[in-house]
Formats: sequence, C-alpha cells, structure tokens
Amino acid sequence: MSTSLTKNQKLLQWIEEITKLCKPASVHWCDGSQAEYDRLCEEMVKHGTFTRLNPKTRPGSFLARSHASDVARVEDRTYICAENKQDAGLTNNWSDPAAMRQTLNKLFDGCMAGRTLYVIPFSMGPIGSPIAKVGIEITDSAYVVANMRIMTRMGKAALDALGDGDFIPCVHSVGAPLKPGQADVPWPCEPDPAKKYIVHFPQDPAIWSYGSGYGGNALLGKKCLALRIASVLARKEGWMAEHMLILALTSPAGKKYYVAAAFPSACGKTNLAMMQPSIPGWTVRCLGDDIAWIRLGADGRLYAMNPEYGFFGVAPGTSQSSNPNAMATITKNSIFTNVVLTPDGDVWWEDMGVAAPAKGIDWEGQEWTQASGRKGAHPNARFTAPASQCPVIDPDWENPEGVPISAFLFGGRRPSTIPLVNEAFDWEHGVFMGSSTGSETTAAALGQAGVLRRDPFAMLPFCGYNMADYFAHWLSFGQKTDRNKLPKVFFVNWFRKNAHGKWLWPGYGENSRILKWICERVDGTGKAVRTPIGWLPTPEGLDLSGINIPTADLQELLAVDREGWNKEADNIAEYYAKFGERLPAALRQQLTSLKERLAVG
Ligand code: OXD
Ligand code: MN
Repeated sequence: MSTSLTKNQKLLQWIEEITKLCKPASVHWCDGSQAEYDRLCEEMVKHGTFTRLNPKTRPGSFLARSHASDVARVEDRTYICAENKQDAGLTNNWSDPAAMRQTLNKLFDGCMAGRTLYVIPFSMGPIGSPIAKVGIEITDSAYVVANMRIMTRMGKAALDALGDGDFIPCVHSVGAPLKPGQADVPWPCEPDPAKKYIVHFPQDPAIWSYGSGYGGNALLGKKCLALRIASVLARKEGWMAEHMLILALTSPAGKKYYVAAAFPSACGKTNLAMMQPSIPGWTVRCLGDDIAWIRLGADGRLYAMNPEYGFFGVAPGTSQSSNPNAMATITKNSIFTNVVLTPDGDVWWEDMGVAAPAKGIDWEGQEWTQASGRKGAHPNARFTAPASQCPVIDPDWENPEGVPISAFLFGGRRPSTIPLVNEAFDWEHGVFMGSSTGSETTAAALGQAGVLRRDPFAMLPFCGYNMADYFAHWLSFGQKTDRNKLPKVFFVNWFRKNAHGKWLWPGYGENSRILKWICERVDGTGKAVRTPIGWLPTPEGLDLSGINIPTADLQELLAVDREGWNKEADNIAEYYAKFGERLPAALRQQLTSLKERLAVG
C-alpha cells in the first residue's frame, strides 16, 4: 500500500521519524486486505514461523511456535511512565518518562535492521464509531500483522476513518536486528527477560514495546491501548475502559438483558461469554470476551461496546464441554500458537476433550507423546479467531452505540467465604465489591497455592493510572446519572469448595441459573434476603429444576460465613491501607459499614 493513501502529515512525519530510528530494510503499509493477509501467511510458512494446518479439517488456519522465553505477558517488564510516580500508583511499575525515552531510543536504534517495518492502521471499536480510537502500530513482526488483522479492524478503512485526525502511536519491535547475511529464526525475539519493555506514556499518549512477539506484549491494540491507555483517556473523557466480557441473555418471554462481567485472568471469562445455558428457554449471545468500553448514553444508562474484532483465547481447557461455541469459532481462519501439531495437520491441547494423538509435535517443536508426561501445549497456548465466526455472536456486537447494561458482575476464584452470588445494596457498595475482587492463586500460577491476590475490577495489570483514582472514577458515576439507571452490581463465585475441597457448584452452563436470578433482580421480582454482606438469593429464589444440588451444599453456597467475613474485612482493611490517603473516603466508609453490619448480625 502506498503512502499516498494518507495525507495525514503528522502520521507521515512520524513514520519517517521511526523509520530513521529503527533502520528497517523496507517499509510496508498494511491495507488489511485478504490478499495481503494470504501473502504474509505464505511468507511465514516459507520462513518456518507458520505451519499451514490441514485445509480439509482446519481451513485457512496456521500453527505458530514461539521462542521458549516468549510465552506470556510480562507484567514485571510493563511500565506506566506518568510524569509523576504517584499518578502511576503503587500497583504499576513506574519509570521516569525522560529516562525511559532514552533507554528506548538506544534499544530501538537500528532494531529493525534486515527486517520489514509494517505500518498497521487499526481501529479499536467499529470503524467510524464516535467512540472508536484509531491506533497506528509499527512492527517488524509479520506474525503481529496477521494477528492484528483478526483482533482489530485493520488497514485502509481505519486509515480512511483517521483522515487528518489524531492517532495513538504504538511502536513494536521483536528486538532482533539481522546483520547482513545473518539467517533469521522462525520466532525472533529478545530472549533476555530483563531487556523486554512494554511501556506506556499516558500523557502523550503512546506505547512502545520491545523484545517480545507474544500476545498482549505485541498486539498493542489489546491490553496496552484498549485497557491501559484507554483507561487514562476514559477518566479524562468521562467513560470507562474495563477488563470485562459482554453478554446478552434473553428470557423465554423474549426480554433481553445485557451483562458485563469482570474476572481476573484464568477464571473462564471466554467460557462465560459464550455459554450454553442449561435452563430451558434462555439464550445467551456473546458481544465480547475480554474488554468493554462503557459510556453514558443520552438516556442516562451505561452502554458497553467491545473494541476488539476477534478472540485471543487460552487453548488448553477449551473443549466441547467447557466451551462448544469457542470450539465452533476456531474451526477455520484461525491462528494457533504453542499447541500440539498432530500427524494429520491439526491441533491438540490438554483438556481438549479428545484423545491425544499417538505422536505429535509439542509447542517446543519436539516429538511428543502423552506418555512422556510433559505437557504438549504450553499452558498459555492461544487461539486467535475472528469474533464474527462465533455461532452465538450477538447481532448488536458491532453496534457503534453499544448496548445498555443491566448488571455488572465481579468474581474470582474464592474457594471459601464468598457466596455463590451476592447483590450490592447500592452503587457505592458495588464499587466496594469491585475494588475487593481477587482470586486465590493455584499452585501452577505462582508456586504458592491458596494465596489471595487482590485484583481490583480485574484491572490490576491493566489500569494505566493510580488505582485509587480509578476507584474514585467508578464512584463518580453515582453522581453522573440517575442512580436507578445504573446497572445493578453482583459478586459471583462459581469456585466455592466445601471443607473437603469438593466443588459445591457445577459451573459452566449451570451458571445460567445465577444469571436468571440476576435478571429477576433487575426486574425487581427475584427473591432475596438482606444480609450483612448484601442481598443473597433465598434457596427457592434460584431455579434449580433439573439439577441436584444437595440441600446442605446449597445452604453453604448461600450462607454468610461470619468468621470468614470478619477475616475478609480485616484483609480488605490491610489491602486498602496500602492506598493511603488517596483511597476514596466512600470506600473506607463501605468497609466500616460492612464491619458494623457483621457485628450486629
Ligand atoms: C488475557 C488476560 O489474556 O487477561 O486476556 O491475561
Ligand atoms: Mn483478559
């Protein structure tokens, strides 16, 4: 694509500047066409980055294997370079912007030698939507270009929508310049973790990423732009950028309810977003599985829109039983990274629900059998697939206005104390619930099982500014509109266990029973009891027809564990103390009120 397709002087100048700095062998402006995509994929196949999967069983799809050092987001190498350290807050890594610019200038000088510099114009949000944002990602990775085409609206249309306007500059390099004559490798990157940098300059705003080609480190529209930078813009402009799925539920009577839900990573957000409800007559449609941009509509309600265009989901654990709609979404036109290649040119991963191949090639490119005892797919192996291929995608998923939200859900993996579902008394109580969201770590995640990691609003790694100010921003919506028009807030916990470690709730499609109660609460008909911690369903309030939950288990799921909650309140107090004076008084008040209610009973 020629540069004459844009007259945006600022953009042209910026590309020239970055080209001078990175010194690539050539420059390619991406038009986003199918022909361009096909050509890049073919080049990657020749190069060894991609393996074409069997066109009969997985048409238009490819497998990639990353370098063993480049398999996940690197939170400890992610920086928020606000002018003042205080504005990044204690939940973010901060670095002085001027010092970081110097570091980056050195790293990026000549970093694309021997490579092609791709210019990717992309829109987060439907093209032309008044709340969409245009970014321009510069990258030296064809793998990134291919993934960005699935995950964002990318190419000429985004450039046309930009016109002369402002864009968010995003610079990415795998950090592996080639000397003249040096042979390339299938997955170039900077293998030294200490030399990877994922950097955000919220004031500019701008994003610079160096050394990794994987996921959120490199597909800069996703976590970097649509969450970290967007959260800063949202605060300034009066909207919200959230780590939330969006789904639509339709009742047997045909009434539609939109729900947005925040869960920490690894809590099954994609599964919930596309779930098949087990209760007859109800349907679920998906609008997004990871990010929601939310704004006040003219009618005073909150409207949510998914800024992404595809799904970048975790493959292991995805199966016909856990997520049949995801399995259908990824049957074609998908990219699989770090899964097993089967002898017939298809893919496999742990807990896919089908037998492992007798022999395959594992994510590290080695011959592999299940008998080896090694995992064939990396636990963070991913699929990248167009959202339009999801069989239950909602007809309004590209509506530029978004959809009106009736309920916000927060949740995490909480084996004890937290009930199955708990409705906030009011908006401030809901914000309190969001702020105390967290998950107990599993042994696999951190080497330390049973440790509670607070992940406020599931935004811990994704909030681009001081978390206490973010809480205040949420609270401010209580003053911005008629409170009755705000969504009701619920805390859910599908992961409750009994004293013997047995799951008390079946989860998956059965979670529709909880969603049904939530819709009834929105309508004012759901049966609930007021408790010190919030409104809990009465046992008859939940539709449990057709499943067998022992009465004792149900009681435990819906009980207020006073001792557990006193400890919980102490733990929240400890965690709140870290925010010091910046913590909004309304949240401190919420904690005090909770303690008082627990004391009274
Ligand atoms: C993700 C995450 O990849 O939250 O979506 O980690
Ligand atoms: Mn996520």
